[in-house]
Amino acid sequence: MRALQIVELTGPDSALRLVDLPEPAADHMLTPGAGVVVDVHAAGVSFPDVLQTRGQYQYKPELPFVPGSEVAGIVRSAPDGSGLAAGDRVAAFCFTGGFAEVAVAPAFMTFRLGEELDDAQGAGLVLNYHTAYFSLVTRGRLQAGETVLVHGAAGGVGTATIQVAKGLGARTIAVVSSDEKEQVARAAGADEVVRVEGFKDAVTELGGADVVIDPVGGDRFTDSLRSLNRAGRLVVVGFTGGAIPEVKVNRLLLRNTEVVGAGWGEYALSNPAINAEIGAALDGLIAGGHVRPIVGPRFALEDAAEALKAIDGRSATGKVVLDVR
Ligand SMILES: NC(=O)c1ccc[n+]([C@@H]2O[C@H](COP(=O)([O-])OP(=O)(O)OC[C@H]3O[C@@H](n4cnc5c(N)ncnc54)[C@H](OP(=O)(O)O)[C@@H]3O)[C@@H](O)[C@H]2O)c1
Repeated sequence: MRALQIVELTGPDSALRLVDLPEPAADHMLTPGAGVVVDVHAAGVSFPDVLQTRGQYQYKPELPFVPGSEVAGIVRSAPDGSGLAAGDRVAAFCFTGGFAEVAVAPAFMTFRLGEELDDAQGAGLVLNYHTAYFSLVTRGRLQAGETVLVHGAAGGVGTATIQVAKGLGARTIAVVSSDEKEQVARAAGADEVVRVEGFKDAVTELGGADVVIDPVGGDRFTDSLRSLNRAGRLVVVGFTGGAIPEVKVNRLLLRNTEVVGAGWGEYALSNPAINAEIGAALDGLIAGGHVRPIVGPRFALEDAAEALKAIDGRSATGKVVLDVR
């Protein structure tokens, strides 16, 4: 099969090679046992894939390896008792190995895909939308009627967070850095859009936020805390801004603020049952028309370096996708 490997840790420009590899066996996965073997139609590209080309992501497989954490395609084989069968159309989170014509994912991370979503949207479903739901509900304890501030709102996690929050009856304020990104955040359903510069004052004028979802970090962290209403929750999701923020914890006393981490992958692996719960909740939001992954730039498998550079250069909006077949 055709696949892309990371062969050296030199960044998106030069780390990848297109290779011909044997197809993976059903037990070729991070988790023990047999998984679901999927004929990959589309593969999602994410920020961690960029970090992996530099050896900067927390999970560092031995070189060479096939990156790519999520795919959409058709089940070729599935383990007994998984509830899946050959021919099913699915979205799956495979951790690595997704930038290839065949990938293997654990059954608990493989979800039947309805006809509401196409393959490219399916390739943008699991990582971003499970993370969004987990961050908003499991960690952020979002209630209908509350206001959610979303950083990086035109990105993969950001657009997913807006859609899930809206579907759960919340009001959303998106934070973006450009006009183009404002349009994407609005297309995702944001009620209000503000610019990164001066966002705290703009959000305060809009009545403040009850929950902040922060995939960006960096120097905006303290202003995010200041944007929260009493008993607000700031959910730490990622650090695309580069710097890992520090907080003076006296701030947390002033208005009973919580800062909570949301590490979806760690939680999903150690509590496999939550994946079915979140999957069912998302199916409801898909059926209700709230969840529609926003697909951004699309590339052929062999052009994955361009896909990674679009993310690295901060120019990508929505979900970046590789069309595999
Ligand atoms: N905790 C979890 O379980 C979990 C799960 C999935 C992803 N993540 C993390 O969440 C983060 C976001 O992922 P994503 O897929 O949404 O990324 P993305 O689509 O590339 O969007 C990230 C957004 O971050 C903002 N940003 C600010 N400074 C940036 C910089 N220097 N370089 C690039 N972007 C910058 C950009 O928005 P503006 O230009 O508008 O500021 C961009 O739209 C990543 O760190 C990822 O690792 C965490």
